[in-house]
Amino acid sequence: MSLTSTDKVTPSSRAGRAWPAGTCQGHLVRAVRTEVRRGLDWQQTADRVAGVLRGNLPDPADLLPGPLRHGDPDRYQSHLLYVEPDGSFSVSVMVWRPGQQTAIHDHVAWCVTGVLLGREYEEIFALTDSGNALELAARNLNLAGTVSGFAPPGDIHRVRNTGHDVAISLHVYGADISRLGNSIRREYTLPILP
Ligand SMILES: [Fe+2]
Repeated sequence: MSLTSTDKVTPSSRAGRAWPAGTCQGHLVRAVRTEVRRGLDWQQTADRVAGVLRGNLPDPADLLPGPLRHGDPDRYQSHLLYVEPDGSFSVSVMVWRPGQQTAIHDHVAWCVTGVLLGREYEEIFALTDSGNALELAARNLNLAGTVSGFAPPGDIHRVRNTGHDVAISLHVYGADISRLGNSIRREYTLPILP
């Protein structure tokens, strides 16, 4: 079932960009909604939503039309697929060409990611030097099929497509991305200590 024009998804425009850009499967939305409505804390919600996605990751072709699955040579792309009417969660798809990456950032709420295609290399950072610098805390190579859930604080990271082909990932955020524009709380330009 497609949610492009059903289940209260209303095409609208944000920053001159139409959304939804693709479709989000109804069974996935209903399963996420069930977990969000439990009213658990952010980490517990992220863990449970990750459980929903694990083993249920859709084919990118079921989410985005072909041209959007090729990415953009200028920068990675984020396509908003669905926002829950009460704003409690949003679903996006990100498309990365080889070498494209995010800034170092953290998030306004819990987040669950599932890699659908390709590979995403993630570096996790911790604040140090009284908040004046970062240090690398962990690295993960997330291949297709990998699902990760996390919640602030301790969610400072950078993600890069280190593969030779396009990478595509599904993201569920505990926030209304149509209102906020994205899930980023802060971008970090602090020095990274060795
Ligand atoms: Fe992120």
